[in-house]
Amino acid sequence: MSSMKGKSIIVTGGGSGIGQAAAQLLGEVGCNVTVADLNAAGGAVTVAAIEKAGGRAQFVQTDVSSESSVQNMVNSAVATYGRLDGACNAAGVSQRGKLLHEVTLEEWDRCHGINLRGLFLCNKYQIAAMLKTGGGAIVNIASTAAVVGFPNGAEYCASKAGVMGLVRGAAIDYATKGIRVNAVLPGGTLTPMLQSAMEQDKGLEAALAAVHPMCRFGQPNEIGAAVRWLLSDEASFVTGAAFPVDGGHSAI
Ligand SMILES: NC(=O)c1ccc[n+]([C@@H]2O[C@H](COP(=O)([O-])OP(=O)(O)OC[C@H]3O[C@@H](n4cnc5c(N)ncnc54)[C@H](O)[C@@H]3O)[C@@H](O)[C@H]2O)c1
Repeated sequence: MSSMKGKSIIVTGGGSGIGQAAAQLLGEVGCNVTVADLNAAGGAVTVAAIEKAGGRAQFVQTDVSSESSVQNMVNSAVATYGRLDGACNAAGVSQRGKLLHEVTLEEWDRCHGINLRGLFLCNKYQIAAMLKTGGGAIVNIASTAAVVGFPNGAEYCASKAGVMGLVRGAAIDYATKGIRVNAVLPGGTLTPMLQSAMEQDKGLEAALAAVHPMCRFGQPNEIGAAVRWLLSDEASFVTGAAFPVDGGHSAI
């Protein structure tokens, strides 16, 4: 991981859960991390943890569903650290826990506005910045929901399947331009998002537990470790991949 030292990396959703774990793991190997999140308090916790461990980080309050906010996020990373070498796009929202005919258009639009449209905006401006300095790597956080149906989560499954399409298309477009684009597909991972989804949908915990062959949920660090590897030069021949980190969920 010595190749990661000094790399400028954006982590969206870096104020909580998977993004927070990824940001801290990247900070540990010497990356200059731009922690981007709507949640300023969570972002400050992440920056403090990275700095306490001897790393460099800044927080940029960002709404990934807003084009101007995403532009500001990328501009801030470049202004502070001189360039952009990588990104982990983990900002996202969960399912509403409803049958599809009960999902309102507003709920559908919010889910897709953050999980898919927001991810498009992030990739668009991150790639533009990376092209100026010869390349980079992006890891987009999808979900096993991209490849496996979730009960009461059709709008979420659709948003994550869309992420997979974006990753494959972008991966081939930039394969000869030095930019790798991959997806990590986490299984159920113990973060505030999963905890609140399980509170809203009382059947979710049992349904999810039953489909994880390891009979447990993942920890955020287990997802962050895969993100860090995919962003590193150790993954130099990996692009367009859908990388499950899911205790075997998608193998069923
Ligand atoms: N936890 C799981 O079981 C699980 C499983 C598969 C995939 N995922 C995916 O992993 C990613 C991270 O989820 P998590 O579990 O760490 O959730 P989390 O709720 O702990 O963290 C998500 C972060 O995204 C931020 N965010 C939400 N909307 C935003 C916006 N518009 N702009 C900027 N930031 C925004 C939140 O403030 C929060 O800090 C999500 O894309 C989620 O869909 C999670």
